[in-house]
Amino acid sequence: MLAVHLVSFFFTKLQEDPTKKVDRFLHAMRLHDDQLNDISARFQAEMKKGLSAESNAAAAVKMLPTHVRSTPDGSEKGQFMALDFGGSKFKVLQVKVREGMGIRKGGVEMDEKTYRIPKELLTGRGTELFDHVTESLKDFLHERNISLEKKHPLAFTFSFPCEQTALNRGLLLSWSKNFRARGLQGKDVVQVLRDSIDRTGGMDMEVLAMVNDTVATMMTCGFDDQYCQAGLIIGTGTNACYMEELRHVDLVEGDEGRMCVNTEWGAFGDDGALDDFITEFDRDVDAASNNPGKQIFEKMISGMYLGELVRLVVLKMAKVGKLFDGRVSDALRTKGKITTAHVAAMEEYKNGLKNTRTILEELDLSPSDDDCIAVQHISTIVSFRSSNLVAAGLAAILTRIKHNRNRRALRITVGVDGTVYKTHPQYPKRLHKVVRRLLPDCHVRFALSDSGSSKGAALVTAVAQRLASRKRQVDETLSSFKLSQEQLQLVKARMRAGLEAGLKSKGPSAIKMLPSFVYHTPDGTENGKYLALDLGGTNFRAMLVNFKKSLQQNVRLYHKIYTIPLEIMQGTGEELFDHLAQCIGDFLDYMGMKNARLPAGFTFSFPCEQTAIDTGTLVSWTKGFKATNCEGHDVVSMLREAIKRRNEFELDIAAVVNDTVGTMMSCAYEDPQCEIGLIAGTGTNVCYMEEVKNIEKTELQKGKPEKFKGTPDGEQDEVEELSMLKMCVNTEWGGLGDDGSLDDIITPYDTEVDQNSVNPGKQRFEKLTSGMYLGEIVRQVLLDLTRGGLLFRGHVTETLKTPGIFQTKYLSQIESDRLALLQVRSILQQLGLNSNCDDSIIVKEVCGAVSRRAAQLCGAGMAAVVDKIRENRGLDHLNITVGVDGALYKLHPHFSGVLQKTTKALAPRCDVTFLPSEEGSGKGAALITAVARKKKEI
Ligand code: BG6
Ligand code: BG6
Ligand code: GLC
Ligand code: GLC
Repeated sequence: MLAVHLVSFFFTKLQEDPTKKVDRFLHAMRLHDDQLNDISARFQAEMKKGLSAESNAAAAVKMLPTHVRSTPDGSEKGQFMALDFGGSKFKVLQVKVREGMGIRKGGVEMDEKTYRIPKELLTGRGTELFDHVTESLKDFLHERNISLEKKHPLAFTFSFPCEQTALNRGLLLSWSKNFRARGLQGKDVVQVLRDSIDRTGGMDMEVLAMVNDTVATMMTCGFDDQYCQAGLIIGTGTNACYMEELRHVDLVEGDEGRMCVNTEWGAFGDDGALDDFITEFDRDVDAASNNPGKQIFEKMISGMYLGELVRLVVLKMAKVGKLFDGRVSDALRTKGKITTAHVAAMEEYKNGLKNTRTILEELDLSPSDDDCIAVQHISTIVSFRSSNLVAAGLAAILTRIKHNRNRRALRITVGVDGTVYKTHPQYPKRLHKVVRRLLPDCHVRFALSDSGSSKGAALVTAVAQRLASRKRQVDETLSSFKLSQEQLQLVKARMRAGLEAGLKSKGPSAIKMLPSFVYHTPDGTENGKYLALDLGGTNFRAMLVNFKKSLQQNVRLYHKIYTIPLEIMQGTGEELFDHLAQCIGDFLDYMGMKNARLPAGFTFSFPCEQTAIDTGTLVSWTKGFKATNCEGHDVVSMLREAIKRRNEFELDIAAVVNDTVGTMMSCAYEDPQCEIGLIAGTGTNVCYMEEVKNIEKTELQKGKPEKFKGTPDGEQDEVEELSMLKMCVNTEWGGLGDDGSLDDIITPYDTEVDQNSVNPGKQRFEKLTSGMYLGEIVRQVLLDLTRGGLLFRGHVTETLKTPGIFQTKYLSQIESDRLALLQVRSILQQLGLNSNCDDSIIVKEVCGAVSRRAAQLCGAGMAAVVDKIRENRGLDHLNITVGVDGALYKLHPHFSGVLQKTTKALAPRCDVTFLPSEEGSGKGAALITAVARKKKEI
């Protein structure tokens, strides 16, 4: 065995020139283009894996969203403190950015100082390391005479992998390079910095943005070059970032525009993806590192490892007799004795060989000329491999960008920084050449960051500051819509007081509490064919309902919907009722029942004073209606007269009911516990089963038999059972606040909406809570924000000034969680509002604040109603069902949830089930008609 070695030793020594010898020894490190393309393809696959929500957890390359959404546009400005932490130098800086000027025009001024980090802090307690950072910051402020009292915005370059959920929040995933401080992994580094600033004391800093050095480098270079869409570091560590389409970044909501992704490509290969390219030297470097098994790609590339790779190769070659006649020195055996600076010196154009000799001699070696040539060549192979690998990674990124943008060719600039790139004499040239060879279709420019990453970090911070101040102002505007638990309790109490007052007061009261003359929820024995007429919001619905005897489930329904044009809603009463008669005629024609003289129930969704089930005097129009000559008149008579005028068909109108009552009846048919009806639609209202004895304003509780017309059998004769008797009361709760009782929660936007309505001063609660008004409130807020320059770039358009553009359906769509921001933007576009991504976010927030308040107020009102019913019945605990209808409840993504939660919180002793009505209130009106008819027949 020894003989074989000796022979091969002499053979090679005689035969080989030194560079060929090294080439052969290191052939695994010499990568040709096929291999580089292969590596590039693998890296593309890794990027995909890291971006996808499903595979991200298992991905080696983390592809971290940075929350940086745009490269500089020249509008950045301000004065910032900056910390540059994680590269070979730790610096504190002051950066001044003047708006609208590139750096070359002197738009950015920087003043910086490098601080040493004592070695022991790198591996000590994290808090101590950060205290050193903040003490250095304080020292800098002192030294530069910068005010300690003033609040300073702070930009933080932190060059380690962090999972960012916002620009100013990032959890440290793991240390890399030579850092290993304890207790920081998994922590929000921005918070750790803030805590440390507090501990150090005496400074007022607002940490607005934390950025990786790659991102900061891209931004620095982007200030001068709008094509700069990628950042690259080849320094102590290596990494790259680029602008990715947001729709591909699964981990961040939204699909519009771009976001910078920090690839953390140093970890490429940590899952074995590069095993076939890894040499024994790479394995040794890894094994002796701070983080074995981690940052495999980085360890083949970056400044922290290049010198060590060269040393291990030289050592090995010497040990096998290929260098220094087989002699090895202690220095050569010592980790860290060959540095990246040595590698750079050895490869210097003219003095390279001389430098190599000096370096080797300093390692107590006596190199021959051939040894020097060989060692220089080792350096070249190691550093060439590094630049080749970077080129392969970059080629993958640029190819991805090219595909993303659907371009055949791409023009792009890569911002670069890092000691290897800046100080190695051949590195940049080699890198550029290989990248261009791998990507012949791309026009790639490399821009060296001339002033480190802090300028870029300051630019990000400037945008963050502008957004933060915008957010503060938007939050302040929306704060008037935020109701505390105490305020909601107050609303509940006021609603309760309003209900009580309405039951007592014979005269006008804010909450009208109108008796409905419906004494019972259905019992399932109803049968026969009925016509249901339903005048609710903007629609009129005619419906045929057929109840089959004792077959509860077997309800047959046929219906047709007719819109009511605005000019009819707001014309004369006669025109309105003639229009209804015409629609009914059309429906009977359609059903072939014009001659049937059907019994009919009329859902009339406006406040009516009733003295019997089949009469109702309209007290006042609400919602959008204001037809003349109706208020103060019996709506049943008006409909009968219109039918008579039409003279085409006959109807027996047996009942007039409010939509709340119809809804309650309809739901009670399914669930006997349903004793409340709620409408959250164009308008809002509630009815519930109240004890007759409590309806003090009427004569009913005095038990006058003639008033019991419409009650179920026998009750007329049992006046003593009056105490048991209930009647459905239509609260008309929309009027709460008409006496000023809600003035403390009413915002100026609500006042504006009220003033512009057809009934100013009326239905104040309804105007805070129902579909007809929510969109208008939103529009008023948007107008105000736009006038304040916080939205739509301060452009108040005619569209935005148009009342009624936001219908409930748009609010519901905009607030849908499933809807991406791009879709929000397209809805706004449909409405004629040109928004950008930030505008869409704000519009969504405004909608959310307005609809949430509406749901909470309805919840507070509902809590008052259920607690009253519970107390009426002397119960400790009440189980009850609310039948609900209305577009706001049914279509809005969050309204029902917030309503239920608020009701539960404010009426904890009631279990309230909300049951959406299936066929609208028409079925309920038909049921009431069935009972009324039965009474008539008896
Ligand atoms: C500097 C940047 O110029 O480059 C740092 O300001 C960055 O933020 C560094 O980390 C990377 O290079 P190195 O060689 O210092 O690790
Ligand atoms: C319908 C009822 O389903 O809901 C109507 O049948 C009621 O009577 C209406 O007025 C309320 O909802 P919106 O959203 O149309 O006002
Ligand atoms: C390491 C860090 C990374 C940084 C790079 C260059 O790879 O993990 O965040 O960008 O070094 O400094
Ligand atoms: C309005 C009406 C009311 C109706 C409600 C829901 O508030 O005044 O009667 O129930 O709208 O449609």
